[in-house]
Amino acid sequence: MKALGGLGALLLPAALAGCRGETPRAALPQPAAFAACQTCHRTTPGASALGPSLAGLADRRAGSLPGYGYSPALQKLEGRWDEPRLTAFLLDPTGVMPGTRMAFAGLEDRKQATEVARYVLSLPEE
Ligand code: HEC
Repeated sequence: MKALGGLGALLLPAALAGCRGETPRAALPQPAAFAACQTCHRTTPGASALGPSLAGLADRRAGSLPGYGYSPALQKLEGRWDEPRLTAFLLDPTGVMPGTRMAFAGLEDRKQATEVARYVLSLPEE
């Protein structure tokens, strides 16, 4: 168990969220592989960049962030993102969702993708 070693990573997102004066729900520690996502995604509510904000992702339907212009492929997706669905998407975005505008080659392995999926699904909405 690397519980103590993980403490810094656990406190960092909380500290960053604190800059906006928010009380975050307990987001999991941010995995290093999430750096690849930050080119296009923010974890703060309402902060869309090239990609939609990932804050509160687990609490909303897939492809439903108000004001963000999704591709028809993502708009067609039913239901919510869950861990298996997001893991598969992160491994091969255009493979599992032809027509998506998420121009990302995919994470390298399933362990990394599962870790990133869990983290993203833990992001608070506020
Ligand atoms: C090159 C930019 C880019 C990168 C890098 C990228 N994304 Fe995306 N992402 C997008 C875009 C653009 C969309 C919208 C896609 C669409 O409409 O088809 C999107 C959509 C998503 C969605 C769907 C959101 C919703 O509201 O349903 C999730 C979840 C997501 N990305 C997670 C990730 C994660 C996690 C990573 C890192 C492993 C990542 N993305 C890397 C650009 C990117």
